[in-house]
Amino acid sequence: PRDFLQGQRSTVLKDSVSTSARRGTGPSTSPWPTSSGQNFRLSSGDILRFLDPLRDLSILRGAVRPGDTVHYVLDRHSSTHITETLYRLLPSAPPLKSQFHRSCAIVGNSGILLNSRCGEEIDRHPFVIRCNLAPVEEFSEDVGSRTDLVTMNPSVVQRAFGDLQTEEWQLRFAQRLKALGGSVLWIPAFMAKGGEGRVEWALQLIQDQGLELRTAVPSLRLLHAVRGYWLTKRVPIKRPSTGLLMYTLATRFCSELHLYGFWPFPRDAHGATVKYHYYDQLTYRYTSSSSPHTMPLEYRTLSTLHSQGRCGCTRGHAI
Ligand code: CTP
Repeated sequence: PRDFLQGQRSTVLKDSVSTSARRGTGPSTSPWPTSSGQNFRLSSGDILRFLDPLRDLSILRGAVRPGDTVHYVLDRHSSTHITETLYRLLPSAPPLKSQFHRSCAIVGNSGILLNSRCGEEIDRHPFVIRCNLAPVEEFSEDVGSRTDLVTMNPSVVQRAFGDLQTEEWQLRFAQRLKALGGSVLWIPAFMAKGGEGRVEWALQLIQDQGLELRTAVPSLRLLHAVRGYWLTKRVPIKRPSTGLLMYTLATRFCSELHLYGFWPFPRDAHGATVKYHYYDQLTYRYTSSSSPHTMPLEYRTLSTLHSQGRCGCTRGHAI
C-alpha cells in the first residue's frame, strides 16, 4: 500500500470559527466584547491562498487506492487505511463542482434555536448546511428540514446513536441517513483516531442499502489550512469547529452566508439559559482550556464580519 500522505503538503497551522445566532426574539447585539485586531475583510481570494474549498471538500477516488495508509491529521503517529467501502464511496469529482448559490444557510447546533421559529426561513435558502447529523424532524419549526450538506464527526455515532450497539440504534441511524436523500454526507474520517469502526459501519450501511447519499471525506490538509487562513487574520483558533470549517468552505460556493444556531454561550442576551445543543443534554465548557475548540472567539470573529457587512458574512442576522 502507498502512504497517502506522501506528496501531500500540509501547513502546520490552524484556523478559527465564528458563530452567529438567530432567534425570533433574540439579542440584537452580542453581550460579549469583540476582541481587538479583527478589523479585517473576508475575501474568498485570500482563502484560496490557503485552500481550495471545492477541492478540499473531499478526497477524490482517483487520488487514492484501497489499502493506502492515512495518518490522522490530529494524531500523526497513528494511521488507518483506505478501505474498499470508503474507496467505492468517495466521489470521482468534487461534490459541489460548478455550484454557486445566491445564499446559503449554515445551521449550528446551539440551543439558541429552540423557540426561534427560524425553520421556514432556513428552508428558503437554496443551499442548507447542517452539522453532525443533528435531528430536524421533531424541531423543524425552529431549525427547518431542508439539508443539502450535513457533516458527521465519527464521534456522533457514539454520542447520538448509542454507538450502534443495539438493533434499535442501528435502525434509527439508518433512518436518519435515509431521510437525507441525495444530500452530501461530509465525514471527517481522518481527523482524529478512534472512529474508524463507526465510519466503516456507516459507509457499509450506505452501500448495502443503496442510499442516494453522496459521501465526502475532507482533504487531509483542510483543518490546518483553515486554521492558517484565520491566523493570518489574527484569529488564533485552537482547532476549528465544524461550524467554522463549513463557513470557510462555503465562502467559495455561496454569495451570502446566513448563520443560525451559532451561540456558544450558556445564556442568551437576556440571561436565560441556553442549551449547548438544541437536541440533547450535552453540556460544554465553552472557555475551558481543555476544550478542543475556541467557539466564543469564533463567534466574535463572525460577529465582527457581520457588523462590517462585508462580503460573504452573516448579513441578515441578529447576532
Ligand atoms: N455551535 C455554536 N454554539 C453552540 C453549539 C454549536 O456556535 N452552543 C456551532 C459551532 O460552530 C459548532 C457547530 O455549531 O461547530 C456544530 O455543533 P457541534 O456538533 O457541537 O460542533 P463540533 O464543532 O463538531 O463539536 P465537537 O468537535 O465537540 O463535536
